[in-house]
Amino acid sequence: MVYMSAIPYYPFFRKLTILRLVLFSLIALASLKAFAQNPPPPPQEFPPAPYPHENTHSEEKRILGKILFWDEQLSSDNTMSCGTCHLPSSAGGEPRFGVHPGFDSLFDTNDDIVGSPGVVRRDLNGELVDDAVFGFEAQVTGRASPSFFMGVFSPDNFWDGRALPQFIDPEDGETELIAEGGSLENQAVGPILNSVEMAHDGRTWDDVRTKLNTVIPLLLASEIPEAMQEALDATPSYPALFEAAFGDEGIDAGRIAFAIATYERSLIPDETPWDLFVAGDRGAMTANQIEGWDILRNDTVCLNCHRPPLFTDNNFHNIGLRPAVEDLGRFDVTGVNRDRGRFKTPSLRNVGLKTSLMHVGWVNDVQDALNFYVSGTQNTGHEQFTQNQSGIPNSNLTINQINIPIGDHPEIVDFLANALTDPRVANETFPFDRPTLLSELSKMNTVFVDYEYVGMENGSDSMPYTTINEALVHVAEAGVIRIAPGSLGGPLAINQAVTLECDDGTILLGAE
Ligand code: HEC
Ligand code: HEC
Repeated sequence: MVYMSAIPYYPFFRKLTILRLVLFSLIALASLKAFAQNPPPPPQEFPPAPYPHENTHSEEKRILGKILFWDEQLSSDNTMSCGTCHLPSSAGGEPRFGVHPGFDSLFDTNDDIVGSPGVVRRDLNGELVDDAVFGFEAQVTGRASPSFFMGVFSPDNFWDGRALPQFIDPEDGETELIAEGGSLENQAVGPILNSVEMAHDGRTWDDVRTKLNTVIPLLLASEIPEAMQEALDATPSYPALFEAAFGDEGIDAGRIAFAIATYERSLIPDETPWDLFVAGDRGAMTANQIEGWDILRNDTVCLNCHRPPLFTDNNFHNIGLRPAVEDLGRFDVTGVNRDRGRFKTPSLRNVGLKTSLMHVGWVNDVQDALNFYVSGTQNTGHEQFTQNQSGIPNSNLTINQINIPIGDHPEIVDFLANALTDPRVANETFPFDRPTLLSELSKMNTVFVDYEYVGMENGSDSMPYTTINEALVHVAEAGVIRIAPGSLGGPLAINQAVTLECDDGTILLGAE
C-alpha cells in the first residue's frame, strides 16, 4: 500500500523554547522553500512482507501452516494450539488470563506477571507431574503473549529478540536452513517442545513426527474456514499435506517451521483506518482520532519508538516496568550492559484489541499504558523504575520525562485503540479467519458428537455406547475407545487423556 499523503512523521519535542520554536519555523520555512524547487520526498510505503529466499511463498505451505497453527494436536496433550495463545480477535495475543508468580516465585505479590496458561506439567511418559510452582494446574508463561502479526517485519522475534535471523535445523543442530530473515521459523520451533507451552517434559521431534503421521489434521477443530476445509478434503492427512507443500511426505521440524512462518507472513494488518486515512481517505478516521494522531506526531515522543507505518522501530528499550534484575530481557541475548531490562517495542497496530499489554501483561488497555508513561500505572499500583531506563531516540527526553496530562487526552487513546485496528483482525475475516478450537467449545460447555461408535476397551468393559461422550464418562484416564470406521461428524470434546482408535487400527487421537 502506498501512502500518498505528505504528512511528515517528525515528532516534535514538547519542551521547545520559544527561541527554538522561532528557529524551527525559520528552518521549516527554509525547507519549504527548498521543497518548492525539489521534488517531494518519496511516499511512505508499508513494506511488503519479507520472505527469506530459502522459504518463498506457496499456497500449499500457507494452508499447511495455518492448519498446524490451529491444530491443538500439535501439543502433547491435545489442549494447546499456537492460536490458543495468539487469537486474532485479541490482536494475535492472549485473550485468556493467567498469573505467573514472577521473580520472587510467590503468588499474590507485586511482581506477578500476567501470562498465558499453557499445559499441565507432564513427564517423559506423559504422566502428570506435581509442578513446584503450578502443581497440577496449567503452567503459565513468564511473559505476556505478544501480538504475533508484526513479527513478520522484525529481524529478531520474542520480547528479547532471541529468535535470530539464522535458522539452523533444530533436529541436527548444524544444517543451516535459512541464512537471513528466518526469525519466524526459529521462533516457531520453540513452543512445540516447550514444556510450559505445548509439550510434556523431554518431548522430541520424533514424538511430534510420529503423532503428526497418525492424527487426522484439525480433528478437534470445528467451523473450519472453506479454504482450509478444501485442502483437508483434497489432502486429508499430514503426510499428504506435507507432500503437497514440500514434494514428499517427510515431516520434520524445519518443514513445520517453514509452513507456519509462511502462514504468518500472509497476515499483514495494513487496512486500518489510519492506513486508509494516510492513503487519502480523509473520512476513514473520526475528527477525534485525527486530533489524537496530530497530537501524537506533533507533541509527543511516542512515535520515536512506535514509528509509523509499522508503529514499531523493531528495537529494544527499557521503559521501566520493573527492576531490570527481575527480567534482564535483551541483556540475556547480547550480554551488553545497556541492554538490561530492554524489550522489543511492540507495534501499536491492533493494540486496542489487547487485554494484557507490555511483556508484564498487567497493563490492561491503552489508557492504562498511557497512564504508565505519564505517572507510572496508578490503577495497577506499579511504579515506574528509572534505573536502566533507555533514552528516547532522536530526543533529549527520558521516558520518565514524558509528560502528557493523564486522562486529558481521550483523542490519543481513541486513535491508538481504534484507528490502528484492522477490521479483518477484529472480526477474524480472511486472511485472519480461523477454526473454532475445542478448548473454546468446552469453555462454552457446548459438546456435540455424532460419531458412529462401536465400543470401548477398558479392562473388561466393552459396552457399546452411542456417543463418545457417553463412553468418556465411563472410560478411565488413558483408556482406549474404539471407533468403527465410518463418518466422523462433529467436533469431539475430550478433557482427559484418552486414546481413540479406529477399528482398522489407526489412532485418531492419542495423548502422548
Ligand atoms: C502457552 C501460550 C503460547 C503458545 C501455545 C504459543 N505461544 Fe507464541 N508466544 C507466547 C508468549 C508468552 C510469547 C512471548 C515469549 C517471549 O518473548 O519470551 C510468544 C511469542 C511468540 C512470537 C513472537 C512475536 C514477536 O513479535 O516477537 C511469535 C511469532 C509466536 N509466539 C508464534 C507462536 C507459534 C507459531 C506458536 C505455535 C508453534 C506459538 N506461538 C505458541 C505464548 C504462546
Ligand atoms: C523509548 C521508546 C519508546 C517510547 C518513547 C514509547 N514507547 Fe511505548 N513501548 C516501548 C517498548 C519497548 C514497549 C514494551 C515494553 C515492555 O514490555 O517492556 C512499549 C509498549 C507500549 C504499549 C503496549 C503495547 C503492547 O502491545 O503491549 C503501548 C500501548 C505503548 N507502548 C504506547 C506508547 C505511548 C502512548 C507512548 C508515548 C506516551 C510510548 N509508547 C512511548 C517503547 C517506547
